[in-house]
Amino acid sequence: MTRAAVKPALHAAGPYVPGPSLDELMARHGLREVAKLNWNEGLWGPLPGVEAAVAAASGQFWAYPEHAYNELRDAIAADTGVRSEQVLPGHGIQALILTLVGAMVAVGDAVVVPEPTYGLYAQACAVAGAEVVTVRAPDLRIDLEAVAAAARRTEARIIWLCDPNNPTGARLDPAEWRAFLAAAPPGCLVVADEAYADYVAPEERLRREDDIDAGRPVVVLRTFSKIYGLAGLRLGYLLGDPSLLFYLQRVQEPFNVNRAALAAGLASLGRPADVAARRAAAVAARERFAAALLAGGARPLPSAGNFVLVDLGVDDAELTERLLARGVLIRPGGELGLPGFARITVAPEPVMDRAAAALLAVRGELA
Ligand SMILES: Cc1ncc(COP(=O)(O)O)c(C=O)c1O
Repeated sequence: MTRAAVKPALHAAGPYVPGPSLDELMARHGLREVAKLNWNEGLWGPLPGVEAAVAAASGQFWAYPEHAYNELRDAIAADTGVRSEQVLPGHGIQALILTLVGAMVAVGDAVVVPEPTYGLYAQACAVAGAEVVTVRAPDLRIDLEAVAAAARRTEARIIWLCDPNNPTGARLDPAEWRAFLAAAPPGCLVVADEAYADYVAPEERLRREDDIDAGRPVVVLRTFSKIYGLAGLRLGYLLGDPSLLFYLQRVQEPFNVNRAALAAGLASLGRPADVAARRAAAVAARERFAAALLAGGARPLPSAGNFVLVDLGVDDAELTERLLARGVLIRPGGELGLPGFARITVAPEPVMDRAAAALLAVRGELA
């Protein structure tokens, strides 16, 4: 009965698989402490004062959140230089991806997704019954020309791009981005997921807010889960044209940003010096870790995010298992379509020094 009751698209679509949870793994291996380097959370935690701001908001937890989120939208607008009506908050980028799919993708529509990239775009579109057209990235760099060509050929509704890309850490080139926008078919929405853009210095970033202002069919996704260290509260936002946001709001779950997240988001915004300090610490730890891997004979890819993808040249599933026994949890490449690789989230330097030593030791055992 159940199989017949659910939408036919669900029969073929697989689940989104983030990998096993920490609790499960610690119980399985009898571990008391684990360096959790598998999900790219912001491992420096919330900015100072944010937890106190959440505690101060707790007196209002009995009430539904204010529905329009005006204060948060104004603060995001001030932080990013857009207009408030171009901002749509949501409980994480994940929720906003589902909102976009709910608003735009009908059964049989084509969407284009480069490979490898963040898994939720393809999974959410497959569940909606879309034809997911994947474009393999040569040298693990997104081929924007091939992506635009695939979108033209299939009359795609949406192109999903992640910049910097998860899991490779690669950034899109600004000139290629501009050529791509000109080559993408009219009527196709380009979604740029900038979950990791906070790890790139502001002066080096592509300002896609300008593309939105220029009337390009572009939306940007951002999150508080990474540099702001708030993954557990689920908060993100979308930037786009108000005429599109008008419809996205109809699809969004009402009251979907909770009061704790609103308080935390507000307390985190407008603090460029604190964010810059976080960025500097993460970049220094990332580069030190990558250098240690390279010196030990592994091949880390250059990364612009808070993680490093490394070509290990050994069985990544076995390496992950053995590393866990040493108290270090990473994401095996096989789960990301990249056997022989691993993706490791960046934590403060002492943790990364320990992780590098353990990883190289286990790699040595397996070579
Ligand atoms: C590219 C990308 N987008 C979105 C997310 C999830 O963001 P959020 O926590 O805001 O739902 C992740 C999480 O790892 C990610 O890697």
